Amino acid sequence: MNLERNYYEIYGTNDITKYRFSQLMSIIEQAKKSRPASLKKLDSEGNDWYKSEKLVGMMLYVDRFSENLFEFENKIDYLAELGVTYVHFMPLLKSREGNNDGGYAVSDYLMVDDKFGTMKQLERVISLLKKKGIRTCIDFVLNHTAKEHIWAKKCLEGDPDYNDMYIMYDDDTIPKEYEKTLTQIFPGVAPGNFTYYPDINKYVMTRFYEFQWDLNYRNPQVFNKIVEVLLTLANKGVDIFRLDAIPYMWKELGTISMNHPNVHKLISMMYEIAQEVCPSVIFLGEAIVEPFEIVKYFGTEERKECNVMYNASLMVLLWNSLASRDVRLMARSMSKDYGVPDDGLWINYARCHDDIGWGFETDILRDMGLDPEMHKQFMIQFMEGKFPGSFSIGELYEFNPVTKDARNSGTLASMCGLEQALNEKHMYKLELAVKRILLLHSIVISYTGIPLLYSGDEIGQLNDWNYKEVSEHASDSRWLHRGKMNWKKAENRNNLATTEGQIFTKIKNMIEIRKSNELFSAKYKSIPVDTGNNAVFCFHKENKMLVLANFSEHEQWVDSKAFDWFGLPGEMHDLITGRPIRSYNNNIQLGPYEYLWLV
Ligand code: GLC
Repeated sequence: MNLERNYYEIYGTNDITKYRFSQLMSIIEQAKKSRPASLKKLDSEGNDWYKSEKLVGMMLYVDRFSENLFEFENKIDYLAELGVTYVHFMPLLKSREGNNDGGYAVSDYLMVDDKFGTMKQLERVISLLKKKGIRTCIDFVLNHTAKEHIWAKKCLEGDPDYNDMYIMYDDDTIPKEYEKTLTQIFPGVAPGNFTYYPDINKYVMTRFYEFQWDLNYRNPQVFNKIVEVLLTLANKGVDIFRLDAIPYMWKELGTISMNHPNVHKLISMMYEIAQEVCPSVIFLGEAIVEPFEIVKYFGTEERKECNVMYNASLMVLLWNSLASRDVRLMARSMSKDYGVPDDGLWINYARCHDDIGWGFETDILRDMGLDPEMHKQFMIQFMEGKFPGSFSIGELYEFNPVTKDARNSGTLASMCGLEQALNEKHMYKLELAVKRILLLHSIVISYTGIPLLYSGDEIGQLNDWNYKEVSEHASDSRWLHRGKMNWKKAENRNNLATTEGQIFTKIKNMIEIRKSNELFSAKYKSIPVDTGNNAVFCFHKENKMLVLANFSEHEQWVDSKAFDWFGLPGEMHDLITGRPIRSYNNNIQLGPYEYLWLV
C-alpha cells in the first residue's frame, strides 16, 4: 500500500509513528463500518461522475443566499431551475466569533455553525439535493484552524495527545529565520507569518489571519485527526471536498513553504484513504499558484491527489481579454501544455468569493511587446475603474503603496460594466455590459472542465458597498462581492424585459445545451486556435465543435480559412441560437461580444 510507505517516509519509523499509523488504520476501519448503505451504493459506481457534461456548479454562502439551511430548502428549486447539479457551500462549519475570514477559521469541524443550522439539517439538505440530482461540495479548511479550536486549547493545556499540533516557539529565533523566506499572504490586513501572544508567551505560526493557526503536519497526529474529520463528513454525504489552501500545508525552514513535495504526499495519502472508505467522493484542490505547480496537485497515475483543480489562469485571462480586447495572451497561455493528466479536470469560473490576482505568463507578454509590470498596472487600474475609458467598477485588494501592487475585488456584473451603465442610465452601455456578462459565461460553460457559477452572477448582482458598515468586514474588500442574494431581483429572472431576465435565461439556456451534448464532457479537450483576429477567442473540441467569442464591442471578421479542416464554409450552425452560420468571402462575422458554439 502506498499509504503505509508514504506515512513512514514522511514521519519516520519510530514507535510513536507506528502507534499513530495503527490509530489511523482504526479510524479508517471505523469509518468504513459506519458508512451508510445509501452512500455505499453510490460508491459502487466510483467517482468518474465528475467528468460528465451534466455537472454544473454554483458556489454560495448559505447566510447570504438563504439566511440559513432551513430556508435553503425552499431555494433548491431555484438552483434546479437554473440547471445547477452541484452546490458548493462556502464554509459552514462552526467558526470563531467576530472576524473569521468568511468562515475559513473553523473552531469545530464536526458542527455546523449555529447561524446556518445544525449538522442534522445539513444532512437533510444534502439528501434533498441528492434527490434532485444535485451533489454537495463543502470547504475543508485543512491548513489551519481557528485559534479557538479545541485542538489548540488542548495543546495549550499540555494534553500530550495534542502536543505539537500547531507551530509555536518560545522565542523569535526560528520565526525570524522563517520570515526571511516566507511570502506574505495578507500583507495589509495580517502582515507577517507569526503572532506573539504575551499571555501564553509563544510565537505561533499564523500565515493567514492572526486567528488562523497553522496546523503542524510534521506531527502524524494532525494528519490522523484531519483524516478522521474528512471521513466523518464524507459519511454525512458530502460528494466534493474543496481542499482549501493546500500549497501551504507543509512548512520547511529556509524555503517559501509552498508546494512542498510532502504536501503532495499528504494529499495522495488522503486520496488513497478516501478511495478506500468513500470511493464516490472527489477532491477539488484550491491552489492559486503558477499553472505548472497547480497541475502537480492532480498527482500521478500511481499517486493520485485531486480530481479537479481551479483554473485560476483562465479566470484571470478572461478578465485580461475583456479589458484589453485582445485574446492573444489567453489563447497562447491556454495552448501551453502544463501536463494535465488525462483524468484531471479544471473547474472553470469567471468569478468567486476571492480577489483577482494578476499572475500572467510574463514570457508571453514580453513576446507580445508588453511590459509585464506596466500591463499588470493597467489591469489593476482598469478593474478598479480608474483607467480612462474603463467600464469596470471595483476596488483594490491588498494595495501596496510602495510597489503599487494590488489585486482586485468586485462582482462579475459590476466589473463587466453593469454598475457604471446603471449609474449613468446609459442604455447602450447597459446592453454591452449584459453582453460581456454572457460572453464570460459562454466560455466558462463551454470550455472543457466543470463550470462553476458564483451565486448572484446569474442575475447580474452588483457590488455591495454596504460591507464598509460591518466592522469585521470593512478592512477586507473581498466583501464587496459577497453581498446578499437579491431575491427581489431574482423574481425577474424569466422576464426578458429586465436585465436579470436577460442574463438568467441565457445562462440557463447555455447550461441546458451543455448538459445535453457529450461534446461538453471531459472527453473532448478544448484546443485554442489562432484566427488571426486578436479580438476573437477561438477553440475547437477535437474538430467536432468550434467556439468563437468576440471580446470587443466592435464587430469582427474572422477568416474561416483559419479552420478550414473543419468543413467550412457550409453547414455549420450555432448550438445556442440554432441559426446557420454562413461565411461571406471566407469570413465569418461576429457582432459586439458575440459568441458562437458551432457544430
Ligand atoms: C482560501 C480561501 C480564502 C481564505 C483562505 C484562508 O484561499 O479561498 O477566502 O481567506 O483560503 O483560509
